[in-house]
Amino acid sequence: MNYLRLGVNIDHVATLRNARGGHYPDPILAAKYAYEAGADGITAHLREDRRHISDRDIKRLIESIELPLNLEMAPTDEMVRIALSHRPNACCLVPEKRQELTTEGGLNLQKNTSFISKCIEKLKNSNIKVSLFIDPDIHQIDLASKLNADIIELHTGEFASLVNKNDSKLDDEYLRLEESARYADSLNLEVHAGHGLNYKSALKIAKIEYLQELNIGHFIIGESIFSGLDSVIRKMKSNINSSR
Ligand code: PXP
Repeated sequence: MNYLRLGVNIDHVATLRNARGGHYPDPILAAKYAYEAGADGITAHLREDRRHISDRDIKRLIESIELPLNLEMAPTDEMVRIALSHRPNACCLVPEKRQELTTEGGLNLQKNTSFISKCIEKLKNSNIKVSLFIDPDIHQIDLASKLNADIIELHTGEFASLVNKNDSKLDDEYLRLEESARYADSLNLEVHAGHGLNYKSALKIAKIEYLQELNIGHFIIGESIFSGLDSVIRKMKSNINSSR
């Protein structure tokens, strides 16, 4: 099986920094440590309310990190303008609601289709790869392919929560993700997955051979309080590739 890349989402280093204002802890330093620990990419979500990552963070990440940056953002004119000015390696378009604690579901590509299509076109014209964060749903995958996306990122939030609860619906959700990943791969879409993953759920989902990248944030940063960022990233990387 192919190697599974690990993208480390550093948003919650910025959450901690913002809790006190000032500059500590610095998410850019976390990105550098992630690189040294073997992360394959850095993910950061510039939210419209700037609750964690800031515009300055994005600028500094682009200027200083050695790894490809996956910029998560809502499909809006403002975010497309920012992405075009920084040119990250990839943009992952995600739905965004002001009141949510975290991204609650995948994009509905049936809504605002022509606007999303224009966002994709502008980004791709600037050589930025476009990823669409969607639920594991065949219809959404078809639309992602028609919209000319390069990548889909499958929302694993439901799967991760079923793993945590050891719920009997877990096998069905796994099959849904596996079938979605297989189908997307058959359409030549690169397949990523993420949201809510921890050691246990990441290990399970890593068995899906069509996946090329997992993006993990909250657990990695949280677990680093107890074990250190370097050790958590190394362990996550070796776990997800242990069955490959
Ligand atoms: N992928 C996407 C598209 C996301 O929006 C998020 C959360 O920002 C993640 C992955 C990472 O989720 P978590 O922080 O729960 O690991």
